[in-house]
Amino acid sequence: MSSMPDQQAVDAAITTRRSIRAFLPTAVPRDVLEQLLHVAAHAPSGSNTQPWKVYVLTGKSRQLLSDAILAIHSDPEQAKLHAEEYAYYPRQWVPPYVERRRKVGWDLYGLLGLTRDDKAGMAAQHGRNYLFFDAPVGLIFTIDRVMEQGSWLDYGMFLQNIMVAARARGLDTCPQAAFTPYHKVIGDVLQLPPNEMVVCGMALGYADPDRIENSLVTEREPVANFVRFID
Ligand SMILES: Cc1cc2nc3c(=O)[nH]c(=O)nc-3n(C[C@H](O)[C@H](O)[C@H](O)COP(=O)(O)O)c2cc1C
Repeated sequence: MSSMPDQQAVDAAITTRRSIRAFLPTAVPRDVLEQLLHVAAHAPSGSNTQPWKVYVLTGKSRQLLSDAILAIHSDPEQAKLHAEEYAYYPRQWVPPYVERRRKVGWDLYGLLGLTRDDKAGMAAQHGRNYLFFDAPVGLIFTIDRVMEQGSWLDYGMFLQNIMVAARARGLDTCPQAAFTPYHKVIGDVLQLPPNEMVVCGMALGYADPDRIENSLVTEREPVANFVRFID
């Protein structure tokens, strides 16, 4: 290692990352995107397999994908025909995960003034996923179907690298599993080869500081609750 890491800078890039759900229209220059992905690709991966493949959508291509998904998502009959290829969430929700999930959901909806009976409001907020929350850059991540669970671990490290390196550049992100049910639509629009499976999406851009949903701060368990130090 030639240089010492700057603890404050690294910690700040990690701890200031939050899922941002409203972006400014400000474009992200192509060279910044390339540099960000170059840095993120330094993620470790088993036997250096580097299982990530990224589709960077801006301008017309981002709009095309948003339009195609929203056309289906907004029609319940059509939306019913689309489902994830892999289970991101547990099939059975148990404590403490179910409570955490509910809390973040209600905290977000509460900020937006959405009550439990406002199904249309909640659906509209969920639909904003497919606009990449108005971010100028939409990322779609895929993985080769031959890769196994280990490569999904590697993939998470790559995704986190993107989100942390984004912070170092004043950019923000929202990782998005919401895209997974629409993998067929994504496959058609992006002309994905059949061996590629959609992992998730991600919104990337400059956060809109005036939007209430961006004030959401999620909680974390204290270290003592999830760690055992064993001498
Ligand atoms: C892989 C992954 C997928 C996610 N998918 C979505 C999504 O589709 N839509 C969304 O609004 N947030 C999504 N999130 C954001 C989580 O809700 C968020 O990370 C969590 O509540 C913690 O908040 P924080 O990211 O602000 O720290 C996703 C997070 C991860 C890691």
